[in-house]
Amino acid sequence: MLDLFESHDSSKDAENNGTHKPIISEDELSDANVLIELKKIKEELRDQVVVLGHHYQQDDVINFADITGDSLQLAREAANLDKPYIIFCGVHFMAETTDMLTKPNQKVILPDLRAGCSMADMAKRSEIDKAWAFMQKSTNEKIIPVTYINCAATLKAFVGDNDGSICTSSNAEKIIRWALDQGDKLLFFPDQHLGRNTCFKMGIPLTDMVVYNPNMLNGGLTSEQINKAKVILWYGFCSVHQGFTLEQVHATKKRDPSITVIVHPECNFEVTQAADDNGSTSYIIDKITKAPAGSKFAVGTEINLVNRLAQEFPNKTILSLSPYQCLCTTMYRVRPRWLLASFRAIKDNKPINIITVPDDIARSSLKALNRMLDVK
Ligand code: 13P
Ligand code: SF4
Repeated sequence: MLDLFESHDSSKDAENNGTHKPIISEDELSDANVLIELKKIKEELRDQVVVLGHHYQQDDVINFADITGDSLQLAREAANLDKPYIIFCGVHFMAETTDMLTKPNQKVILPDLRAGCSMADMAKRSEIDKAWAFMQKSTNEKIIPVTYINCAATLKAFVGDNDGSICTSSNAEKIIRWALDQGDKLLFFPDQHLGRNTCFKMGIPLTDMVVYNPNMLNGGLTSEQINKAKVILWYGFCSVHQGFTLEQVHATKKRDPSITVIVHPECNFEVTQAADDNGSTSYIIDKITKAPAGSKFAVGTEINLVNRLAQEFPNKTILSLSPYQCLCTTMYRVRPRWLLASFRAIKDNKPINIITVPDDIARSSLKALNRMLDVK
């Protein structure tokens, strides 16, 4: 049984039910035949199943998605789906969010239960509770918690119960502005970089921000520091986006000063500052799509998306900012053969890998999710 107040470690689920083991082995079905069967079975089950896919999914998976998008778009879409099965090609926190936003009779399936998010695992509910108690003791000012959607449902529930909101990389600025209108201070978790980059863009100086490190006593902060700060950032980060460096931005610009460096705001502060532009996955796609033929981009985000954009726009130059191919290995765990296994199980009326958020957690989380969806 999962400890509901601990961050989600998807590998635990996977070990518990064993469904992460190859269900359709390479010996049974070649990669090419997996794609052929997927096409057939998807058509056969088209009245029952809708497939959602995040932009970081590999091509052979995203090609089967009925709806693609960034975290915010996929959350918005989830609320309007009507088919009984939703196969979510993305990571665990996204499938949890979808489960909470869909109707009780709809089932959300994650093709590989090990598809977690290392950033989401950097904030645990017990750590947040401890940090919150210390912060409340340290200041009389009202702290509004905002969590990046990249976290377990138990953390979304914490935010829901404490007058806060969820945000994504598409709406972080709007939500932080809302939060600072509701209270005096902001606690932002788990991604320090999205928090810092967004607050700085809004005119909050770095000197008004502190970082709470859950691995240190009292987060490594004194009560005075908490009391003085406007923004308390959680010490979490995306290891994929830490692969982009200031040196890469400088080297890219030196090689070709006319290239536009565009990065995801999960990149660190120095990289985001040195880049020409930054935004969510959909923002990056939109910018590149609308740019005239001949435009050149060095992109600081996950490699599957960068490669897909390069293929889609052969009349533009689209490169990864990093020479080291920054791959989100957990997103990559969703393989076409796991997607096929999910379809086959639905066809057999024995669906596997269903993601269910307990009702009490979902009720509290929904308060925070709806606050996000309602903020104009
Ligand atoms: P987007 O919301 O921009 O799609 O980002 C999600 C994510 O996990 C980025 O690492
Ligand atoms: Fe999580 Fe980073 Fe992968 Fe996004 S890219 S899902 S933040 S590990």
